[in-house]
Amino acid sequence: MLNYNLRENMEFKTPKYQKIGDILIVKKNLNDNEINYLVEKTKCKTIVKYNTHITGDLRTPKIKLLYGTKTETIHKEHGCLFKIDVSKVMWSMGNLEERKRISTLSNSNEIVVDMFAGIGYFTIPIAKYSNPKMIYALELNPDSYHHLSENIKLNKIENVTPILGDNRDFSLKNIANRISMGYVLKTHKFLDKAFEILHENGGVIHYHETVHEKILESRPIERLKYHAEKNGYKLDKYKINKIKKYAPGIWHVVVDAEFLKI
Ligand SMILES: C[S@@+](CC[C@H](N)C(=O)[O-])C[C@H]1O[C@@H](n2cnc3c(N)ncnc32)[C@H](O)[C@@H]1O
Repeated sequence: MLNYNLRENMEFKTPKYQKIGDILIVKKNLNDNEINYLVEKTKCKTIVKYNTHITGDLRTPKIKLLYGTKTETIHKEHGCLFKIDVSKVMWSMGNLEERKRISTLSNSNEIVVDMFAGIGYFTIPIAKYSNPKMIYALELNPDSYHHLSENIKLNKIENVTPILGDNRDFSLKNIANRISMGYVLKTHKFLDKAFEILHENGGVIHYHETVHEKILESRPIERLKYHAEKNGYKLDKYKINKIKKYAPGIWHVVVDAEFLKI
């Protein structure tokens, strides 16, 4: 094993990585020196290379194991535990601040619906720090659903109902005081369903979108207004929050949008 104090004698820069539990995620292939250095420095059990972009509705990553074999780990963040298999489901480090921000916006009088729950990225922190009456956490990918269910137990949370399936098949109407739409690229296609789920007195939708910076202030709001009016609601207040740069010129934003019934 290479002693990393000797790294200054080696000819490489520290490779960039993200640490999820005891697994490192890198974006390029590493040579033996780089692998040995990272293992010694971070005490990781596994190093995984991710393809830069995670695509498909289920957001399944394409990976290559560079070191070790174990792909499941428990990641601790903001006092929450997330069990995750990095070979099957994604984890976005860039959303860390959003996971924190969203965690305290609800309260014990609310019913929340997380339409794209994943392994509980938003559901778990909201349940833990806002303690709503109930969160319905909807997830299409069976692997993510499995970890979502495990994470509910791991965090000893009782007010979450995980549901496996397409959120467009969710049958409860007009029940949510707050809806999380943590999905990108085609989130607007799910807005009509969100308004079907929204409480008849109105409520809040956290609407995510990937949008070019030139239309960042306009397009998400136009889409929200259009679908609100189509479904008998009006946009009362909103705030656009930037989450992270998604691609050159493109931002991942979330709009906190409050609606009233017309
Ligand atoms: C982008 S991930 C969630 C990312 C997360 N918000 C974060 O902070 O990293 C979106 C999730 O939505 C799920 N999904 C996609 N289409 C869905 C649908 N129609 N119904 C329910 N879940 C869906 C995917 O399987 C995936 O787990």
